[in-house]
Amino acid sequence: MNQLDWGQGRYESTAPDLLPAARELVAAARIQPGEHVVDVGAGTGNVALLAADLGARVTAVEPAARLREVIQQGGRDLTVVDGTAASMPLPDGSADVLLSNFAVIFAPDPKAAIAELARVSAPNGRILLTAWLPGVLDEVLGILINAVTEVIGSDPTEGGIDWSDPAVLTTLLEPHGFQVTGTTKDLTITTHSAEDYWSTRIAGHPMGVAALPLLEQAGVLADVRSRTLTLITANWTTPSGVVRLPAPYLLAEAVR
Ligand SMILES: C[S@@+](CC[C@H](N)C(=O)[O-])C[C@H]1O[C@@H](n2cnc3c(N)ncnc32)[C@H](O)[C@@H]1O
Repeated sequence: MNQLDWGQGRYESTAPDLLPAARELVAAARIQPGEHVVDVGAGTGNVALLAADLGARVTAVEPAARLREVIQQGGRDLTVVDGTAASMPLPDGSADVLLSNFAVIFAPDPKAAIAELARVSAPNGRILLTAWLPGVLDEVLGILINAVTEVIGSDPTEGGIDWSDPAVLTTLLEPHGFQVTGTTKDLTITTHSAEDYWSTRIAGHPMGVAALPLLEQAGVLADVRSRTLTLITANWTTPSGVVRLPAPYLLAEAVR
């Protein structure tokens, strides 16, 4: 999953779900007009656009070419560059603030990613990121992930670190001179129906676009879909059919 192209499918359907966290992240960063803010793994620009609206000089770093085009279409005066958390085409010490909304968590080499964030950070810079805490999303996506694990013979999510654990973040960031604090936050993902959740947040999501054909080939896709819809309907669907999935996350801030 590390080489996933986030430009495939329709990440645009998921991005609004993460906008409340982007707002929290930008507010927590206390951005001053003129500061250089780098949005790492900017997606469609949730964070970058908000920071630009505060008068920051914004660089959006995003590996997916199609999503870089989407950010440009946001109509803000900002710079959009190709890069990853571990490789940003930015000078040493050039960012007052580095923000990453559920993005650096996908870096295949967390140590390399943190070293790069620290390199780009100004000497008195700050790094803020969000990461999902264990919860309902794991349950909902667990059926799919277990099925993919069986089909390909390995867990596609295995081997990562727990980005939502402040102690893990401290271990990564302290060697670069950063002190880490974390706050637990909640957002709610709302869709019209369980079927809508499946089609827009799973089948059309870049990860779904990569994974679902494998399940189809193995002949288990219909069963995975049906069990996922049953779980959502039984637990997080209102009588009118609206789905509300609680999604807790960590907002971490690192300063030096
Ligand atoms: C869940 S999306 C979040 C996007 C955006 N920050 C938002 O608030 O909607 C994850 C993003 O991380 C990007 N990404 C994936 N691997 C990355 C990496 N190694 N470094 C930086 N960004 C990465 C993807 O291209 C995608 O845009």
